[in-house]
Amino acid sequence: MAVTRLGDLAPMPPDPLLSIIGAFRADERPGKIDLGVGVYKDAAGHTPIMAAIGAAHGRIADLEDSKVYLGPKGWPGFADAATALILGDGEAAGLAPRAVATPTPGGCGALRLAGELLKAGRPDATIWASDPTWANHQPIFGACGFRLKPYPYFDPDDGLKADAMLEALRTAAPGDVVLLHGCCHNPTGEDLTPEAWAAVTDLIVERNLLPVIDVAYHGLGRGMDEDLAGMRALIARAPEAIVTYSFSKNMGLYRDRVGAILYVGETEAAAKAVDTHILAAARRSWSMPPTYGEALAYLALSDADLRKAWTEELGVMRQRVVGLRTAAANALNARFGNDRFAFLTRQKGMFSMLPLSPEEVAALRDAHAIYAAPDGRINVCGLPEDGMDRFAAAVADVIG
Ligand code: LMR
Repeated sequence: MAVTRLGDLAPMPPDPLLSIIGAFRADERPGKIDLGVGVYKDAAGHTPIMAAIGAAHGRIADLEDSKVYLGPKGWPGFADAATALILGDGEAAGLAPRAVATPTPGGCGALRLAGELLKAGRPDATIWASDPTWANHQPIFGACGFRLKPYPYFDPDDGLKADAMLEALRTAAPGDVVLLHGCCHNPTGEDLTPEAWAAVTDLIVERNLLPVIDVAYHGLGRGMDEDLAGMRALIARAPEAIVTYSFSKNMGLYRDRVGAILYVGETEAAAKAVDTHILAAARRSWSMPPTYGEALAYLALSDADLRKAWTEELGVMRQRVVGLRTAAANALNARFGNDRFAFLTRQKGMFSMLPLSPEEVAALRDAHAIYAAPDGRINVCGLPEDGMDRFAAAVADVIG
């Protein structure tokens, strides 16, 4: 058999989101605008270290006197603090005894462990995912042997397609997996309404489906409890559920890679058994989780003063996102002379999709130094507070 070289592999296409980081940095035009990757930015375009995280950072030197392994559950207390944050203080808090959490390198690590767990326990299941969904969902679940099946979710003109979504999910086979976004849907910003959450919950319970809920923007939509109300009600009723959680955005811990996977089972024994599979998958993937960012998150969650500071600063960030949405909608509607962009004020979180073709997105970049994702997704945090009219004029210039 002829020996092929690894070097003969055809190069992979660039990552549609991450490639924007390098392209934007290399652009030397003044006034360039980055609406690409989903990171929070302040009015100066800076992604700050949150005050609570900065303070926690100062304390870790006193807490750490060694870098020896801590074990698969990472920084002591982190997994329980993450569990409490995810479940909240209401009905879902009662799930804690039959829930197990494991720290992961970011939300991607949690999704990867979810995929590994599904491969172990539901290898033949179809994983249903919203159309569209986050660009990295298919690659991660694909690496675990799954091909995502889209369910209708979003119409650029009409918003959420709840009826069509439910109709599609009614055809799911018992045991199939439904991937949902907990809040701040990526890329559309179009969240399930409370009625849609209730209907999808009924359907998941009736048809015995397994929900996997990806939560990467908790606190950046409507509020800490509001953002997860639908998800918490769902996992309180479903026989089992998986939550993948990222602290990248809501604690600004992006490159420290802090996330968690939470599994809620029917019984404590079931949760404990599943935990062994999650830990085995982590062991063969990265052995043990990075704990520095976990320690920061743990302190921000468990110290009362830091928790208050974090919650308040996150509230300020959320209000900024809401304000930018209103300002962008006003500027675009004024420019177009209609209310075509009113959807920006309805949608939640960092993302919305402008009705732009890939060619129009490229024109926005080439002619106006404005960077968006190829599907027209924009990160509203990158919008210039004092340059909305220029932004609106640029969109009007390229739009077909
Ligand atoms: C995004 O969607 O832009 C973020 O979640 C960053 C990423 O890793 O893609």
